[in-house]
Amino acid sequence: MDCLALYQSGVEQLKTNSIADAEFESSLLLAFILGISRSSVLLNLTICSEADAQRFDAYIKRRCNLEPFAYITGHQEFWSLDFKVTPDVLIPRPETELIIEQVCHYFADPGFAGHILDCGTGSGVLPVTLATIYRNVAFTALDVSEKALAVALENSMRHHVDARISFLQADFMGSLQFDQPFDVIVTNPPYVDAETFATLQQDVVGFEPHLALDGGQDGFVMVDHLLRSLGSHLRGGGHLFMEIGYDQEQRVMDVLRSLPFYGQYNVIKDYAGLPRMVHAVKVC
Ligand SMILES: C[S@@+](CC[C@H](N)C(=O)[O-])C[C@H]1O[C@@H](n2cnc3c(N)ncnc32)[C@H](O)[C@@H]1O
Repeated sequence: MDCLALYQSGVEQLKTNSIADAEFESSLLLAFILGISRSSVLLNLTICSEADAQRFDAYIKRRCNLEPFAYITGHQEFWSLDFKVTPDVLIPRPETELIIEQVCHYFADPGFAGHILDCGTGSGVLPVTLATIYRNVAFTALDVSEKALAVALENSMRHHVDARISFLQADFMGSLQFDQPFDVIVTNPPYVDAETFATLQQDVVGFEPHLALDGGQDGFVMVDHLLRSLGSHLRGGGHLFMEIGYDQEQRVMDVLRSLPFYGQYNVIKDYAGLPRMVHAVKVC
């Protein structure tokens, strides 16, 4: 079967269903199925089997139904690493790479040895990525969702760092107990408020786990709780890196100012210029 004809039928179906970038998505889906590059699809360099065509058609129909691309393929790239994603986990966002960048900025020596906690690990992108960078660090990755933890474990095995990550099912809104304080805590908690939630696109609210997005009525419940509670799990001089909503900077700074245990703190903007992450250092 002609590869280019199949690609064009995908473009038509996606356009009919108002999917933006129909050409890009059709070529990407076909390239994924055939295990070739997008340019090879567009140059019509291969022939598709009947089975390939059927699979492509099924994928295109799912995409027309607004299912996110990453759930259809089961893959998402983060920090140039390939992660498994399922509807049990949030699709990792590029903004979250800011946490990795900032950890690398403050801990420039890859030989750094310590213990890092990730609160709300989802697909495990934060501890798994950091574990590929810091070979002497041990990690604890917790999530309330057992199904998310199963995906995170798979991702840690995919990148051969499972031996250094302990996975823990726990509710970070309850009281957490650990044997020792951590050198670093990273977290990307749910921070979407109810009003914004109602305006999110169907491919987000219809498919991604609400548990991973819903930050309560004002979106600040979990951010506020974690800012206040995580300090007791950091060693003196330990660092907290937390992703926040772009409109939460003022409230985050107010909370940090009111707490006695953070000596210094700053909010970092993402590449769109929006406040996206808070970094705080515990007093020694
Ligand atoms: C925004 S997602 C972040 C996932 C991943 N760290 C990332 O950046 O892609 C938040 C995660 O927190 C978890 N979560 C939500 N409420 C929780 C709670 N009370 N205790 C522990 N984990 C929770 C969700 O299951 C979800 O995996």
